[in-house]
Amino acid sequence: MTDQLIVFDTTLRDGEQSPGAAMSKDEKLRIARALERMRVDVIEAGFASASVGDFESVRAVAAAVKDSTVCTLARASENDVRRAGEAIKPAARGRIHTFIATSPIHMEKKLQMSPDRVVEAAVAAVTLARQFTDDVEFSAEDAVRSDIDFLCRIFEAVIKAGATTLNVPDTVGYSIPAQWGGRMRTLIERVPASDRVIWSTHCHNDLGMAVANSLAAVAAGARQVECTINGLGERAGNAALEEIVMAVRTRKDLFDCETRIDATQIVPTSRLVSQITGYPVQPNKAVVGANAFAHESGIHQDGVLKHRETYEIMRAEDVGWSTNRLSLGKLSGRSAFRAKLQELGIPVHSEEVLNTAFVRFKALADKKREIFDEDLQALMSDESVTPETEYYRLLFAKVLSQTGETPNAQLTLAVGGAEHQAAAEGSGPVDAIFRAIESIVASGADLMLYSVNAITTGTDAQGEVTVRLARDGRIVNGQGADTDIIVASAKAYLNALNKLHGSVERMNPQTETV
Ligand code: KIV
Ligand code: ZN
Repeated sequence: MTDQLIVFDTTLRDGEQSPGAAMSKDEKLRIARALERMRVDVIEAGFASASVGDFESVRAVAAAVKDSTVCTLARASENDVRRAGEAIKPAARGRIHTFIATSPIHMEKKLQMSPDRVVEAAVAAVTLARQFTDDVEFSAEDAVRSDIDFLCRIFEAVIKAGATTLNVPDTVGYSIPAQWGGRMRTLIERVPASDRVIWSTHCHNDLGMAVANSLAAVAAGARQVECTINGLGERAGNAALEEIVMAVRTRKDLFDCETRIDATQIVPTSRLVSQITGYPVQPNKAVVGANAFAHESGIHQDGVLKHRETYEIMRAEDVGWSTNRLSLGKLSGRSAFRAKLQELGIPVHSEEVLNTAFVRFKALADKKREIFDEDLQALMSDESVTPETEYYRLLFAKVLSQTGETPNAQLTLAVGGAEHQAAAEGSGPVDAIFRAIESIVASGADLMLYSVNAITTGTDAQGEVTVRLARDGRIVNGQGADTDIIVASAKAYLNALNKLHGSVERMNPQTETV
């Protein structure tokens, strides 16, 4: 019999620890619903003690999701575990994931705790967590640099205290596959009663080996993988869910386990996460990159036309790249529009939302003959913006750009309800419109990144712009889409400014001590 490989998605927790990727409650709910549709087994919805906002997001996801287990992270402290227990209360199936660092460097320098006290804290946290749920995961942070005897000791102790999943993280992305598989095998062999728990792996990508290391752990007996959509996560990111799932599925001959994932949801979910977090997907990214199934060389194209499997090991449509992605056109009516949104899993909470979205859809259809699924997703991501989150709004823009002349932008912005006008010159049209915005807002933010991607093919495609701004140590990403890339740029810049305006203060579980 083939084992089940539990897919534990931490996009909403570890993924959110990427610079500028902080998400609002509504954004988390949209992603959680997409993960549930994809049949992810466990959704780590956040770190309930990080802030009131995080607590509320975890609670909202716990209340909304029915088919996946909803989990929250908690440091090994009484306050964190109680908060976690409270946050997952509404869940049909709730998990508390408690952790403490176990490597000498973390225990000594970060926690300033002796190994004995670390074991005590872990046991106390797991024991307390069991009062809230019988699904308790324990992680030994920085397991990769921890002494193997100490790991065996702490894992044995937390099994006795009631932990049901034991997670072995490569927190700093230091391992290589042979070593990581070996570590997992040793732990499973040496820890008493190891067959009573699920062994889990959690890998970071600092050396580009997060997926390879995770798969080596699975081959060695791990039956849970912790991963994120698009490999989002701190520094170089976490192991990418889509790559792990497709590797296990495509190389069934090598793995004696399978996931429950509905792979056709992979590409839509990848796009949603990219839009919400403002992290674009690189075109050559495995499985979800725009070029993942594109064949450029004539020899390859010829081979694929003669027999697909000459150069393709997976089918694009199996991971959600639809062969016919044409969604709707200018003549489509409201009911076709509503049905398409439903099919794409985009929630429409009221008739009013549907009506305004439909007006915007018609305006887009006037500019663009064919509307694809991706266009609708971009359109609806703008629709989730509310007056509370949209302090700055673009009302009008006019940009003149001509060879031999300095580009000039004029615009009108709504700032907290009041209209402001400005004009500015720039070295290019984007520079001019950003300067015009800044002449009104005077944000004092630094522009760290500006990128443009075409959402679909064709010269009438919408451009999707990502802007990253930094101010006083805070980093935010903004995104905007439009058939006019200057307008898309202005929308992205304002989206980032709106995020800076709404100050979300939260702490990072791994840099704060218990
Ligand atoms: O990377 C890590 O160690 C973590 C733990 C909290 C599981 O994210
Ligand atoms: Zn991590």
